[in-house]
Amino acid sequence: MPKITYVEFDGASHVVEVPVGQSVMQGAIRNDVPGIEADCGGACSCATCHCYVDAQWLPLTGGPGEIEAAMLDLADNVHPDSRLACQIKVSEALDGLVVRMPKSQR
Ligand code: FES
Repeated sequence: MPKITYVEFDGASHVVEVPVGQSVMQGAIRNDVPGIEADCGGACSCATCHCYVDAQWLPLTGGPGEIEAAMLDLADNVHPDSRLACQIKVSEALDGLVVRMPKSQR
Protein backbone atom coordinates (compact mmCIF):
# COMPACT_ATOMS: atom_id res chain seq x y z
CA MET A 1 0.00 0.00 0.00
CA PRO A 2 1.41 3.44 -0.86
CA LYS A 3 2.89 5.42 2.01
CA ILE A 4 2.13 9.12 2.16
CA THR A 5 4.07 11.49 4.41
CA TYR A 6 2.09 14.42 5.80
CA VAL A 7 4.17 17.21 7.32
CA GLU A 8 2.38 19.64 9.61
CA PHE A 9 3.27 23.34 9.53
CA ASP A 10 5.32 22.91 12.71
CA GLY A 11 7.35 20.13 11.07
CA ALA A 12 5.68 17.15 12.73
CA SER A 13 5.63 14.31 10.25
CA HIS A 14 3.09 11.49 9.88
CA VAL A 15 3.68 8.52 7.58
CA VAL A 16 0.44 6.79 6.67
CA GLU A 17 -0.46 3.90 4.38
CA VAL A 18 -3.29 4.95 2.09
CA PRO A 19 -5.15 2.49 -0.14
CA VAL A 20 -4.94 3.02 -3.90
CA GLY A 21 -7.98 4.92 -5.08
CA GLN A 22 -8.48 6.95 -1.92
CA SER A 23 -7.59 10.63 -1.92
CA VAL A 24 -4.67 12.12 -0.04
CA MET A 25 -7.29 13.94 2.05
CA GLN A 26 -9.04 10.67 2.98
CA GLY A 27 -5.71 9.22 4.06
CA ALA A 28 -5.23 12.12 6.45
CA ILE A 29 -8.76 12.15 7.86
CA ARG A 30 -8.94 8.37 8.37
CA ASN A 31 -5.65 8.43 10.25
CA ASP A 32 -6.30 11.54 12.36
CA VAL A 33 -3.50 13.54 10.75
CA PRO A 34 -3.75 17.13 12.03
CA GLY A 35 -3.76 20.01 9.55
CA ILE A 36 -6.20 18.60 6.98
CA GLU A 37 -9.72 19.55 7.97
CA ALA A 38 -11.73 18.69 4.86
CA ASP A 39 -14.88 20.55 5.91
CA CYS A 40 -16.70 19.74 2.65
CA GLY A 41 -15.87 16.04 2.75
CA GLY A 42 -13.97 16.05 -0.52
CA ALA A 43 -16.37 17.98 -2.73
CA CYS A 44 -13.71 20.50 -3.79
CA SER A 45 -15.63 23.33 -2.19
CA CYS A 46 -13.87 24.32 1.04
CA ALA A 47 -10.07 24.42 0.50
CA THR A 48 -9.44 23.25 4.09
CA CYS A 49 -7.47 20.33 2.65
CA HIS A 50 -4.92 22.67 1.09
CA CYS A 51 -1.44 21.18 0.94
CA TYR A 52 1.87 21.72 -0.80
CA VAL A 53 3.19 18.88 -2.91
CA ASP A 54 6.88 18.22 -2.43
CA ALA A 55 8.69 19.41 -5.57
CA GLN A 56 9.93 16.00 -6.71
CA TRP A 57 6.35 14.69 -6.77
CA LEU A 58 4.75 17.49 -8.77
CA PRO A 59 5.34 15.80 -12.12
CA LEU A 60 3.38 12.79 -10.87
CA THR A 61 0.52 14.58 -9.11
CA GLY A 62 0.19 17.24 -11.78
CA GLY A 63 -1.33 20.63 -11.10
CA PRO A 64 -4.87 21.55 -10.08
CA GLY A 65 -7.80 21.19 -12.42
CA GLU A 66 -10.00 24.15 -13.31
CA ILE A 67 -12.47 23.86 -10.41
CA GLU A 68 -9.69 23.08 -7.95
CA ALA A 69 -7.72 26.12 -9.12
CA ALA A 70 -10.79 28.29 -8.59
CA MET A 71 -11.08 26.99 -5.01
CA LEU A 72 -7.39 27.55 -4.39
CA ASP A 73 -7.89 31.18 -5.40
CA LEU A 74 -9.91 31.52 -2.19
CA ALA A 75 -7.28 29.87 0.04
CA ASP A 76 -4.49 31.59 1.95
CA ASN A 77 -0.78 31.13 1.33
CA VAL A 78 -1.21 29.57 -2.11
CA HIS A 79 2.04 28.64 -3.86
CA PRO A 80 2.80 27.11 -7.26
CA ASP A 81 2.94 23.69 -5.57
CA SER A 82 -0.46 24.07 -3.89
CA ARG A 83 -3.10 21.37 -4.35
CA LEU A 84 -6.29 20.35 -2.62
CA ALA A 85 -5.59 16.99 -1.02
CA CYS A 86 -9.10 15.74 -1.82
CA GLN A 87 -8.30 16.05 -5.50
CA ILE A 88 -5.13 13.93 -5.44
CA LYS A 89 -5.99 10.27 -5.94
CA VAL A 90 -3.49 7.85 -4.44
CA SER A 91 -1.88 5.37 -6.84
CA GLU A 92 1.07 2.99 -6.56
CA ALA A 93 3.08 5.63 -8.44
CA LEU A 94 2.57 8.01 -5.52
CA ASP A 95 4.17 5.65 -2.97
CA GLY A 96 6.44 7.96 -0.97
CA LEU A 97 4.54 11.17 -1.73
CA VAL A 98 5.28 14.03 0.66
CA VAL A 99 2.75 16.81 1.28
CA ARG A 100 3.08 19.75 3.66
CA MET A 101 0.32 21.71 5.32
CA PRO A 102 0.10 25.52 5.20
CA LYS A 103 0.35 27.83 8.19
CA SER A 104 -3.38 28.49 8.05
CA GLN A 105 -4.15 24.82 8.85
CA ARG A 106 -2.50 24.15 12.16
S1 FES B 1 -12.05 18.60 1.38
FE1 FES B 1 -13.03 20.44 0.85
S2 FES B 1 -11.88 21.13 -0.85
FE2 FES B 1 -10.92 19.29 -0.29
